[in-house]
Amino acid sequence: MTSQHMLITAGPTHEPIDAVRFLGNRSSGRMGSALATAAAACGWRVTLLMGPAPIVPTDTRISLIRFRTCSDLQALLREHVPKADVLVMAAAVADYRPKVDPAFFGGKFRRKSEKLVLELEPTPDLLAEVASTRRPDQMMVGFALEPRDELEASVRAKLERKKVDMVVGNPLETMDSESVEGMVLFKDGRIERPAEKLAKAAFAPWLLEKIEREAMARSTGIRH
Ligand code: CTP
Repeated sequence: MTSQHMLITAGPTHEPIDAVRFLGNRSSGRMGSALATAAAACGWRVTLLMGPAPIVPTDTRISLIRFRTCSDLQALLREHVPKADVLVMAAAVADYRPKVDPAFFGGKFRRKSEKLVLELEPTPDLLAEVASTRRPDQMMVGFALEPRDELEASVRAKLERKKVDMVVGNPLETMDSESVEGMVLFKDGRIERPAEKLAKAAFAPWLLEKIEREAMARSTGIRH
């Protein structure tokens, strides 16, 4: 699987409210970072699009590009997806962003005695967008963070809705945690899960092996 190009997104987005405030989430970037490290070690050319997260990989073989907002990531995906064989969308992209006049991003909301109502607008679904225009040879992997009792049903719905090849499902507690109790759903309905709870650094090579096996099956038509 050497010299193939894997594009990975990781970390949160920060959606500006004004020049100094944002709406974000607690994604640490740990999962995407661990996957990038595992893939580079296995000979993949890796580009990691990383949001404003505290965890960044140290492997110099990884081409690291930072983004802040959903719009930044949208522009980067439009540039980099055409060059990728596999896209792994582990970023925790905001579903809503403040609807604020961009001219105001240079300013600051002031304290007033009356309440402040912040209007939010939906962001575009970046994965669905790139999946709808992909080449047949490109493989796309989504992530889903869900309440544990809804995990399997939600992962199945997301695989359909986003038209991807695989969805990695994780319970909500996975965010910002060291470990993961994940599962992977494939397009043919198969589900695979590790035998036990794993550290993200150990889940990443497990997941990489599933991605490599699926990529191989797609190119040869042989599934083991
Ligand atoms: N995603 C995306 N663009 C968004 C939101 C999410 O590309 N604006 C991607 C994530 O990177 C992830 C997948 O879609 O790979 C699922 O994200 P999630 O937030 O769980 O799903 P949503 O489509 O936002 O659905 P819901 O909020 O109903 O769970």
